[in-house]
Amino acid sequence: MSNSTYSPASDRYINSVGYQNCGKSGLMLPRLSLGLWHNFGDVDDAQEALKMIHYAFDHGITHFDLANNYGTPYGSAEKNFGKIMKDHLSSYRDELIISTKAGHDMWEGPYGDGSSRKYLIASLHQSLKRMNLEYVDIFYSHRYDPNTPLEETMGALSDMVKQGKALYVGISKYPLGKAREAYRLLKENGTPCLINQDKYNIFTRQIEQNVLPLAEENGVGFIAFSPLAQGLLSDKYLNGIPENSRAAHSYGFLQKSQITPEVVTKITELNEIAGKRGQTLAQMALAWCLRTPDVNSVIVGASSVKQLQDNIEAIQNTSFSNDELWRIGELG
Ligand SMILES: NC(=O)c1ccc[n+]([C@@H]2O[C@H](COP(=O)([O-])OP(=O)(O)OC[C@H]3O[C@@H](n4cnc5c(N)ncnc54)[C@H](OP(=O)(O)O)[C@@H]3O)[C@@H](O)[C@H]2O)c1
Repeated sequence: MSNSTYSPASDRYINSVGYQNCGKSGLMLPRLSLGLWHNFGDVDDAQEALKMIHYAFDHGITHFDLANNYGTPYGSAEKNFGKIMKDHLSSYRDELIISTKAGHDMWEGPYGDGSSRKYLIASLHQSLKRMNLEYVDIFYSHRYDPNTPLEETMGALSDMVKQGKALYVGISKYPLGKAREAYRLLKENGTPCLINQDKYNIFTRQIEQNVLPLAEENGVGFIAFSPLAQGLLSDKYLNGIPENSRAAHSYGFLQKSQITPEVVTKITELNEIAGKRGQTLAQMALAWCLRTPDVNSVIVGASSVKQLQDNIEAIQNTSFSNDELWRIGELG
């Protein structure tokens, strides 16, 4: 497929996934976003990856989430996405929200990890080159680094906005007290924090206690990652570990050891609740994250267009009865 053969669906915003303002900002995010952590690297099927990006955009998924080290090998997800951008999506740049991050290990030596000004700025320059972009929409500090003063990390993020290399900034996986400080520093720098990105799914709901209320209090948006617990919250592991699944790959982050008999019992019961709602378990797990407007968007991963198709349907029913919520809570 070349640029000339791809014309996005003209009705992509009509029957789309819907949009919501990110925190108190004017930026609207699609309720479902697509994450490129797995399935877009050099070890993955490039044709399927291209089809997924097209399918997502055709259904109004305007936000693609990346990081410097996504893909196997590191950087390959950005490089492959960059090729798709250049060959197929360059004329749609203004319809897209593209994020990247730095904070985990990326290159050798003392400057390829952590959250120093040196690492963050060098990393964003590399990311822009790999993705064939002049700017990213959101640049994240990927994790809190106890060895770098927060003023230095936040100063680097703010400078990237002031230099036009990022439109907004965000933080990910920050401990509560550090998130509070980061919000204050970014505000003082004149580049308020747009968004907090953290893990949220039926099995992991700690953020409900304090991360979400703090974000709301500060007008910061929230976007959930791993809403399917890397695929556990789907029907794929009900009867063993399928060959092509994340848990079966040597390079994936989901370990076979995480699929314990106790987990299988829970997902079997959750699958029954989903069936009674007329949803697949994956759809119910996504709908559950989206039941509250405090979660502005959910970043789902997918290894095929079929999964993406399944996931987009989740938007059709994000309401839950008290009984359903209670039963899901018991299994979480
Ligand atoms: N900020 C951070 O530190 C951080 C950390 C992790 C993730 N993230 C972001 O969040 C994104 C999503 O994370 P994730 O990939 O862990 O998300 P996830 O949505 O919890 O898991 C995605 C995996 O679930 C399986 N799946 C998806 N839809 C399915 C369906 N309908 N039926 C059956 N299985 C289905 C696929 O696994 P198979 O490959 O087995 O088919 C897919 O690769 C990442 O790409 C990244 O952008 C950020």
